[in-house]
Amino acid sequence: MARKKKDSPFYHSHDHRPYNFPRGFLWGTATSSHQVEGMNKNNDWWEWEHQKGNIVDNDISGKAADHYHKYEEDFDLIEDMHHNVHRFSIEWSRIEPHEGSWDYDEIEHYKKVLQSLRKRKIKVMLTLHHFTLPIWLTQRGGWEYKYISFYFERYTKMIANELGKYVDFWITINEPMVMISMGYLEGLWPPGKTNLWNAFRAFNNIVKSHKKSYRAIHNKLDTVSRKKIKVGIAKNIISFEAANKSSLLDMFYTYHVNQLWNHFFINRTKKYHDFLGINYYFHQRLERKKGTLISLTFSSQIERQRRELNDLGWEIYPAGIFSILMDVKKYNLPIYITENGIATRNDNKRIRFLLSHLTEINRAINAGSPVKGYCHWSLLDNFEWHLGFEPRFGLVEVNYRNFKRTPRKSARILAQIAKENSIEHDLLQYIGHTPHHSEPDVCKIFHDRQKTKKSKKKHSHK
Ligand code: BGC
Repeated sequence: MARKKKDSPFYHSHDHRPYNFPRGFLWGTATSSHQVEGMNKNNDWWEWEHQKGNIVDNDISGKAADHYHKYEEDFDLIEDMHHNVHRFSIEWSRIEPHEGSWDYDEIEHYKKVLQSLRKRKIKVMLTLHHFTLPIWLTQRGGWEYKYISFYFERYTKMIANELGKYVDFWITINEPMVMISMGYLEGLWPPGKTNLWNAFRAFNNIVKSHKKSYRAIHNKLDTVSRKKIKVGIAKNIISFEAANKSSLLDMFYTYHVNQLWNHFFINRTKKYHDFLGINYYFHQRLERKKGTLISLTFSSQIERQRRELNDLGWEIYPAGIFSILMDVKKYNLPIYITENGIATRNDNKRIRFLLSHLTEINRAINAGSPVKGYCHWSLLDNFEWHLGFEPRFGLVEVNYRNFKRTPRKSARILAQIAKENSIEHDLLQYIGHTPHHSEPDVCKIFHDRQKTKKSKKKHSHK
């Protein structure tokens, strides 16, 4: 990018190389069927929303962002934004509204959606299950049902058969641990349980279902497809930190919480991942409750330290994505950031969020993390589960009265980055100019600059 003139308000005294991303890096956004499509009447969430008190302001997903009808318009937007990947989910309850009866019109619909992406040369990351189950299945016990893995495998085979040729990356199940904690421990999501035993049964069935689905996709597609089929999950990973680092006990507990939340599912499904999909939203400082031995709580230090929060009160902590990327390096798997985003009505904040997280990801890549792509959550404002429509996660604003789309400035920033496959120096003005001096790349540039300056001086003295 050209240097700005001295009298320009954007003039800065120096320039340095952009933060480049590896060749072939994937840039895109993510959505999920129930949150954007609208009128998904045959799933458990639709039932849940219609019971008073389950959703903030008693919102119901209704037409959501009407993406079901507006996908062409939405894909035009992502094409304009230079994205080369898109992550979205197929709605099981549309495909199989009643046990064993397949809706071929809906399969046809998704075929068109996939063809529309292919026409634009946008790679597809397809999620098979993103938090919603068909009602007929929840009536038998949902994730606790003994035979659910059989049904999930059968659904997987159907999709692989019908739509497999259009898919580049498969995500069997989105965020297993979130589903367990919200639906079976906190009771805020369907089925609204708060019982460890139910949680344990559901967890085991999710493990089984993922493994069966993984195998089914490979068995179906490995021989017919000429490309290597890639199957994984999207794992919500939290960056945990002991609030009190001088307490060995707190450090010990934090280590185990990290193992449980971040690594347990991956360890239980080892060898069933061709890549790791990571969703990053949270940083938690853990401390023991005063006067107790094992009762942990989230630290109140966040308020005391006046850290920046999003509209939902979640701490914004870009350095956390660096730590978790370093932590999961040990799995030796390619990594895709399958979700990362912020609920805010302040788009300047979203721009800062985006740039600060991307510079951390770039730092992690330079430190050896095999990150191959980034999907921002989300393309559109959408239905944020029990929190309804109030939180705004979209790069594109949705007017819920007429479904008009308006790209925010943050969409343009991500578009520029995707186009250049790098973060230009000028963009760093949004987060203050804070290059990480430990980065080999940046250090080298400063070093080289110094050398050329010195040699210029030498020459001029001659
Ligand atoms: C989920 C999305 C959700 C986002 C923001 C992720 O846990 O996969 O469905 O909208 O977080 O809360």
